[in-house]
Amino acid sequence: MPAISSTAPGKVILFGEHAVVYGQPAIAIPVTEVAAKAIITPDPAAAAGSIHITAPQINLDANFTDLPSIDPLVAAIRATLDVLGIAKPPAFRLRVTSTIPVAGGLGSGAAVSVAIIRSVSAFLGHPLPDVQVSALAFDVEKLHHGTPSGIDNTVITYGKAVYYIKDKRIEMIPIAKSFNLVVADTGISTPTKETVADVRRHWESDPEPYNKIFESIGKLAIAARAAIEQGNNENLGPLMNENHELLQKLDVSSPDLDKLVLAAREAGGWGAKLSGGGRGGNMIALAPRDRADEIKTALEFAGAKSAFITVVK
Ligand code: MEV
Repeated sequence: MPAISSTAPGKVILFGEHAVVYGQPAIAIPVTEVAAKAIITPDPAAAAGSIHITAPQINLDANFTDLPSIDPLVAAIRATLDVLGIAKPPAFRLRVTSTIPVAGGLGSGAAVSVAIIRSVSAFLGHPLPDVQVSALAFDVEKLHHGTPSGIDNTVITYGKAVYYIKDKRIEMIPIAKSFNLVVADTGISTPTKETVADVRRHWESDPEPYNKIFESIGKLAIAARAAIEQGNNENLGPLMNENHELLQKLDVSSPDLDKLVLAAREAGGWGAKLSGGGRGGNMIALAPRDRADEIKTALEFAGAKSAFITVVK
């Protein structure tokens, strides 16, 4: 059996994070500038069923059976074996690498799961269709996320811009006119699980004002979809700014995120907002084509740990 490798991109949430958990629409975009990779090599010298996992970035070098079942890498392998009905696969070694910052709002967990599920199923001769890959990655997301909406595994599996409503049919958004986003990292990692749980606590103690914020965010996603489909990209800027303000009201922004958002706007961005779970992680800025480089530099100058430009098309 030859070695098999699969990659999965990162993602940004353009509109609607957090509100999407409560049934509102959201828009997410894959970003291929960062990616997770899973490589499988057969290990014919080892006994059938033996699986060895290495993930140098998290200092993992262990046998599958020595790791806890809730470990997300183990869970992704187990879910794939179970769905294929294979109890004892031919022995293999799995190596996982990723350029997606962990707990940075760019979908690192879902991308690792998708890459693993694809490589394991392909190695076993039964590459799974996207719908199944996404469903299995969603099951793994639930382990380390609590109550995920499913948007991360969806956009990462399909690798296309999606308009997503929880438990509804997935809709891809045609991009009428390409646009530039600058993505910048505060360098602060905050697990999405924490911010999602905090928002839920607030919502449970006083649902009414939170429901209103979620609905307002949902309306922005609806307006943004129309703008994208009509090629009115500049109109997305003010919508992003409004979305950021509503996320501030949900208390998921942070001084570092707010600083970068302001810096991007001052450097000529049409709009900017945090992206993902918040309280750290990444922000995104919508950049006029001729200003993307300057905005990236301004963000680095304002303290971003790293920044890159992605073209949404
Ligand atoms: C995470 O990328 C987006 C959140 O809305 C959580 C989720 O949808 O599962 C914060």
